[in-house]
Amino acid sequence: MSKKNLLSGVKPTGTAHIGNYFGAMKQFVDLQNSGNYQCHFMIADYHALNLIQDKEQMKNLTLELALDYLAIGLDPKKSVLFKQSDVSAHTELAWIFDTLVTMPYLMRAHAFKDAEAKDKEINVGTFNYPVLMAADILLYNTDVVPVGQDQKQHVEYARDIAQKFNHVFKTETFKLPEDLILKDVAVIPGIDGRKMSKSYNNIIPLFASREEITKAVMSIVTDSGSDIPANVYAIHKLFKTEAELKPLYDANKGRYKALKDALIEDIDAFIQPMRERRAKLAQSPKKVHKILAKGAKMAKKIADEKLTATKQAIGVL
Ligand code: ADP
Ligand code: TRP
Repeated sequence: MSKKNLLSGVKPTGTAHIGNYFGAMKQFVDLQNSGNYQCHFMIADYHALNLIQDKEQMKNLTLELALDYLAIGLDPKKSVLFKQSDVSAHTELAWIFDTLVTMPYLMRAHAFKDAEAKDKEINVGTFNYPVLMAADILLYNTDVVPVGQDQKQHVEYARDIAQKFNHVFKTETFKLPEDLILKDVAVIPGIDGRKMSKSYNNIIPLFASREEITKAVMSIVTDSGSDIPANVYAIHKLFKTEAELKPLYDANKGRYKALKDALIEDIDAFIQPMRERRAKLAQSPKKVHKILAKGAKMAKKIADEKLTATKQAIGVL
């Protein structure tokens, strides 16, 4: 049986945190290693350009994310690892989709509504974000898109756009993708109990040093009055099973400091091997760039083929 196609991406916009890891990136590795999928993992640098508008920062963050991918266990021998901007079919297809997608439809996107509610001045790239993401997904005959809960709507947009294109041009050019969201870890809370996010300043970095872990855990907001500090437990649950945690939390009712110390140990034990792997990789950035160049070549082959079929379907080829 042929393998299903899988694609996902992350924007190089800052330090990866355990919310990104448990919400999305860990699944990438598990799915890759399951052997059931032909995997494509992208660095969504053109999406990041909406935010990162500084040359050095863009270069650094892109390399950082490539290191993250490799350190968590994505393997260029098993998966196609590439940078979005290296494959121009993405932006070209996004334009074709732009001519089908209506403004009211895009105005219903959560990300757009959030930005508007904050009275932000929104650039066209941010407004159009779901269209480029649809192109990312649809170019690779993608069956499944593993993402965190907050990206579910974007995958629906990709489905809708594929359906609309196929309908308008009376074709079957695009396959309809599905999201893949792990229920238990759909939203990882940050140290203040809200969703962990770079933009909330409540993260535990994925490759944190022991000191950084200690600092973050010590700042977890604890609501006094209960035996179990909810925010500590919610994060602890990611690193140990509830059965493993029960004796610890039973023995330390109301002793928040002891529970936090145990959490620090467990996070550090988990992060240490990945942190070491990443530090080693960081010593040879040339090797990392080579991996991305090879990935781009492979991605381009698939994407260009789909773009050609698309151009034929619309009548420009
Ligand atoms: P951030 O909110 O920190 O800016 P991103 O938007 O860059 O994170 O998210 C990258 C990926 O990680 C997405 O697939 C997203 O769904 C997932 N993700 C981010 N934060 C969380 C979280 N707190 N819980 C679960 N998944 C998350
Ligand atoms: N929008 C995604 C995020 O913010 C990143 C992304 C870009 C993506 N293109 C994608 C995810 C295609 C999955 C598939 O996390």
